[in-house]
Amino acid sequence: MGSPTILYKAFYYSGIFAWDFALSFLNLVLFKRPVGEVVPEGHPGYAGNWPEYRPQQEGDSRCSCPALNAMANHGIISRSGRGIKFTDLTRQIRTTYNFSATFCSFVPHYAAFMLNKSYGKDTFDLEELDLHNGIEHDASLTRLDTALQPDQSKIHRPFIEDLLSFATGKDKEQPMLTIKDMSRISGKRRAEARATNPMFTLDLSHKFFGSTNTATLLTAFGGRVDDLRVFLLEERLPQGWEPRIRYPYGLTILKFNQTIIPLEWGTRESDWEGDAGRVEAII
Ligand code: HEM
Ligand SMILES: *[C@@H]1O[C@H](CO)[C@@H](O)[C@H](O)[C@H]1NC(C)=O
Ligand SMILES: *[C@@H]1O[C@H](CO)[C@@H](O)[C@H](O)[C@H]1NC(C)=O
Ligand SMILES: *[C@@H]1O[C@H](CO)[C@@H](O)[C@H](O)[C@H]1NC(C)=O
Repeated sequence: MGSPTILYKAFYYSGIFAWDFALSFLNLVLFKRPVGEVVPEGHPGYAGNWPEYRPQQEGDSRCSCPALNAMANHGIISRSGRGIKFTDLTRQIRTTYNFSATFCSFVPHYAAFMLNKSYGKDTFDLEELDLHNGIEHDASLTRLDTALQPDQSKIHRPFIEDLLSFATGKDKEQPMLTIKDMSRISGKRRAEARATNPMFTLDLSHKFFGSTNTATLLTAFGGRVDDLRVFLLEERLPQGWEPRIRYPYGLTILKFNQTIIPLEWGTRESDWEGDAGRVEAII
């Protein structure tokens, strides 16, 4: 990697964090919008109407990310999951899930850097995101590890059922996952994966990626089990669903960390050690 790339990255990351700080401040002083008015008019999902759901067909490209697969299944990005422009992804994840413009720029830039592609000019297929130990990592909540299941677009249903069964919270009488629940299931998945996958790896940065992904289920989905069942098992957005994020400028990176950091901090793999018997039963 040449020094222009390093300079470009440094420039990009300082800019994005300054901008994120500004948006976080604006979100703090402005009011949240009413429920039912989150997705802007003229965008897929406005008034809870998501475009037709069509699950993956032969030859389509899908990946380890349920959120991007769901967008392809609804045709919000190309249904084939191929030839996606990074810049389109940035625009579409924003109106679909209401993360801030900063987060929605940051992650696709990160992915383009990872794939040695040009963010502005290039396209990618969803499966390219599954580069092991790029963003994709072991001990995911919805997938077997790469060593056990090389096709990372495939969900592992028992993991998802286990995750949803961890919900201790309630929202209007509906079961709801909390930060604590997410820390517990993450600790369990890490212990299981370490005990069952001889190729297991998970460094600190990938623990944080894991917690970042997990935290989206608490923020964009409000932890609601009924919605998450559809989202995770079918990679579909329920009719009538809207993002639970109601900040006028979307969920900023700074604000998002207030979920990610406690979640990661509370994750205790050691609580599950020596539980190998139960682990085998799940896998
Ligand atoms: C454009 C940006 C995005 C990219 C490039 C991306 C990519 C990825 C990748 C590569 C993984 C696999 C990590 C693993 O091994 O577990 C992943 C997981 C995940 N992503 Fe995304 N993602 C993006 C945006 C989002 C958004 C906006 C959401 C939520 C609304 C989301 C939700 C998730 C969840 C819940 C997982 C965890 C699945 C698991 O643990 O099994 N992602 N993402
Ligand atoms: C995010 O949600 C806010 C509050 O509901 C809304 O005003 C805004 O238009 C949404 N932004 C996007 C890009 O969806
Ligand atoms: C990107 O480039 C770096 C440095 O040249 C190389 O180590 C890495 O394997 C490349 N990654 C991909 C996905 O091609
Ligand atoms: C917050 O989380 C992101 C990942 O979403 C990370 O890249 C960033 O450095 C974190 N820290 C701050 C202070 O925003």
